[in-house]
Amino acid sequence: MIKIKNLHKQYNDIVAIKNISFEVQEGDILGLLGPNGAGKSTTISILGGIIQNYRGEVEAFGKNLSKNKKEIKRKIGVVPQDIIIFHDLTARENLEYFGSLYGLKGKELKKHVDETLAFIGLEKVAKRLPKTFSGGMKRRLNIGCAIVHEPKLIILDEPTVGIDAQSRNHILESIRLLHKRGATIIYTSHYMEEIESICDRILIIDKGEIIEQGTTEELLDQYNQNVCYRFTLNKVGNKALVSDLKKKELVESCFCQEENIEIVCKDAGCALQEIIETIEKNGFRYHTINSKKNNLEDIFLQLTGRTLRD
Ligand SMILES: Nc1ncnc2c1ncn2[C@@H]1O[C@H](COP(=O)(O)OP(=O)(O)O)[C@@H](O)[C@H]1O
Ligand SMILES: [Mg+2]
Repeated sequence: MIKIKNLHKQYNDIVAIKNISFEVQEGDILGLLGPNGAGKSTTISILGGIIQNYRGEVEAFGKNLSKNKKEIKRKIGVVPQDIIIFHDLTARENLEYFGSLYGLKGKELKKHVDETLAFIGLEKVAKRLPKTFSGGMKRRLNIGCAIVHEPKLIILDEPTVGIDAQSRNHILESIRLLHKRGATIIYTSHYMEEIESICDRILIIDKGEIIEQGTTEELLDQYNQNVCYRFTLNKVGNKALVSDLKKKELVESCFCQEENIEIVCKDAGCALQEIIETIEKNGFRYHTINSKKNNLEDIFLQLTGRTLRD
């Protein structure tokens, strides 16, 4: 459905996307997972035809995107990261406006708008202005505007940021339902658990590059041999300890915050022995040890690091 080859986008000297290539098959729910600034919105804005100045090839529905923009746009619905709705139009009028942009009119437009209002759970407030809505309701209306023309491909850019739990759940359920009805989905988020729960294939991107990809199971399998140990030490950990631990062959990563130290390593048994010896050699004792298998969040942090992103 989508073929992207060597896509590259630069804003002056900031490289937002570095020659990335990937494909989306019909029926996929593809997750684009990445920290802030990874390049998710830029990728989506290119697919949605919002950014037109880029390098590389983008094919959608078998055709070149930039040469067949109008035709392709009708088959794609983009839910942008920042909510775009008209505040002086009612919920219904917003949907009517976006529906008419895609060529719907008359009875057909009304049918689509009615169905969409029901789908996003806003039929009862259809006549109200969005300024009276909660964040979650605005977001649902925003999603409605993107799907009112029944696109084959729906792209959502962090649609659950900053909204209440009920709206969030409603949105995730709606995405599953849209997929069941035949839509292909691209879903971006920095929430690992959302991606894990709804996506069947994942691209992890960071600093404009794809750093890992596969099905959710593949990624978990691949990193599952890793075990994460958490120790509570008898005093605040120091750099020497972290550096000694990192030197161990079986240790993949090590992160220390005050008395808590988290060590991810390749194998269980013998690695634990070595870790304990290293801790004691550095003059520490420990109160507790916990171990757990990697989940997607651990994998994400191991791959992208823990440095805070703007
Ligand atoms: N309009 C813009 N002008 C300049 N730099 C931008 C612009 N939009 C995004 N960027 C930069 O491009 C990079 C990727 O941003 P973005 O695609 O928004 O990432 P994400 O959606 O993953 O958070 C970031 O470094 C960001 O600061
Ligand atoms: Mg973004």
